[in-house]
Amino acid sequence: MEGSSRESAGSNWWRSAVIYQVYPRSFADGDGDGTGDLAGVRAKLPYLAELGVDALWFTPWYLSPLADGGYDVADYRTIDPAFGTLAEAEKLIAEARELGIRTIVDIVPNHVSDQHAWFRAALAAGPGSPERERFHFRPGRGENGELPPNDWPSEFSGETWTRVEDGEWYLHLFTPQQPDLNWDHPEVRQEHEDVLRFWFERGVSGVRIDSAALVAKDPELPDFVEGEGPHPYIDRDELHEVYRSWRRVADEYGAVFVGEVWMPDAERFARYLRPGELHTAFNFNFMTCPWDRDRLRAAIDGTLAEHAPVGAPATWVLCNHDVTRTVTRYGRAEDTGFAFDRKRFGVPTDLERGTRRARAAALLSLALPGSVYLYQGEELGLPEADVPREKIQDPMYFRSQGVDPGRDGCRVPLPWVADAPYSGFGSREEPWLPQPEGWSAYAADIQAADPSSMLTLYRAALRLRASEPGFGDGPMEWLPAAPGVLAFARPDGLVCAVNFARQPAQLPAHSAVLLASGSLDESGGLPQDTAVWLRQ
Ligand code: GLC
Repeated sequence: MEGSSRESAGSNWWRSAVIYQVYPRSFADGDGDGTGDLAGVRAKLPYLAELGVDALWFTPWYLSPLADGGYDVADYRTIDPAFGTLAEAEKLIAEARELGIRTIVDIVPNHVSDQHAWFRAALAAGPGSPERERFHFRPGRGENGELPPNDWPSEFSGETWTRVEDGEWYLHLFTPQQPDLNWDHPEVRQEHEDVLRFWFERGVSGVRIDSAALVAKDPELPDFVEGEGPHPYIDRDELHEVYRSWRRVADEYGAVFVGEVWMPDAERFARYLRPGELHTAFNFNFMTCPWDRDRLRAAIDGTLAEHAPVGAPATWVLCNHDVTRTVTRYGRAEDTGFAFDRKRFGVPTDLERGTRRARAAALLSLALPGSVYLYQGEELGLPEADVPREKIQDPMYFRSQGVDPGRDGCRVPLPWVADAPYSGFGSREEPWLPQPEGWSAYAADIQAADPSSMLTLYRAALRLRASEPGFGDGPMEWLPAAPGVLAFARPDGLVCAVNFARQPAQLPAHSAVLLASGSLDESGGLPQDTAVWLRQ
């Protein structure tokens, strides 16, 4: 069977692709031990092919103590035994490709695990050693070096420096188990290019670059002073040379990059997407936008305007493994947007409203120009799960002293079969995160048989999108629409309309309704929080 999308065989596949994010720990458990694994993914490849995705992005599957869900990599050339083996990963990559599905792996250049051979060697070798130069080791401040070398705040709450036994401190923008690498060191650069090649040689088509804008540091590691020169560790100009060099490696293999770049400044963001740098970056402005017509329109216009000068296609993202699930976010009464600092326990949500909006948002994002990211379980309409405090594993929770629930609520193992233990996730015992009550109602098997389910909607939308060359990369044009309505045209007479207003809206002129996220009303009007695809 060849790929579903018109572009999946071509070199420009990534400009229009639908990319499905797999969080392997929670996708499917093939060996029954409570943790998802590669055997589980391989068994579900037919499901993914039927869904119609063009590529899978795997969050880190490498050897890791899992202090931050695998974003603490101990060895890039080994698959964590909890997930499988390298031979199995190779099989998975090949089997997926046979179904027309490409593979994207996750590389985490900012840091490694404290169990990585380099960091262990650095600890053993002591102050002043060449081994320590691959990291940021410094003496402390204060009379006896008892104070951290600078005042940088952590990306997760808590400290950014940890003192080791011999008195030196090392920098970690995330947890102490994730020491930051020194990107001024030639071996750090060489090693990452070797790792890229290692995975490209194994048939990988792309790489997601974790925390891409944090990697370079001011070599002086100065305190951060607002408004004084370039930021000491965010979005530094030196980064671009690193990614230009990575790009030369990727070009040898025809592989592509997607950068995790959180950057409110449109011009600075677009710099990462210049020719010769990254192919794409995640669109977090769209993801963090509340369900509001004007703000979404502004986010879409802003996205297209910032990408146009560099010729890069936009990406459209509603959810990932770091944020509150779409259905729950959109179901909240106010400020349905997302910010890490606003994540709190017990924020009320209306799941019916959230689901309606998530369905409409699916059709909206799949109709926009560019590629789309889909996070596992989004196609099932999963809400954010309440994970009991005593079961939480995410370091964000612990580092915030239990104020921030962290990200486990979007990482709960998927429900596959309603009438099976642990909703068919595959475990013989309770999975690594417990599934909440009622989880089996979202199971893929019952949704597959239900014409009104989220899964059925996604399957229909992906099938249509793949068969219509007017979707994906290309031009779009806003159409005049009633207040509260967004309507735009794509090539070949395709139209997408979304109604945000309370009163039903008249559909734009059309010859056929191709797909709707909910029922139209008796007189053919588009109800609130509903989207439709039309042919003019
Ligand atoms: C990225 C990842 C996140 C991880 C962090 C540190 O933001 O998406 O899950 O915790 O980087 O690697």
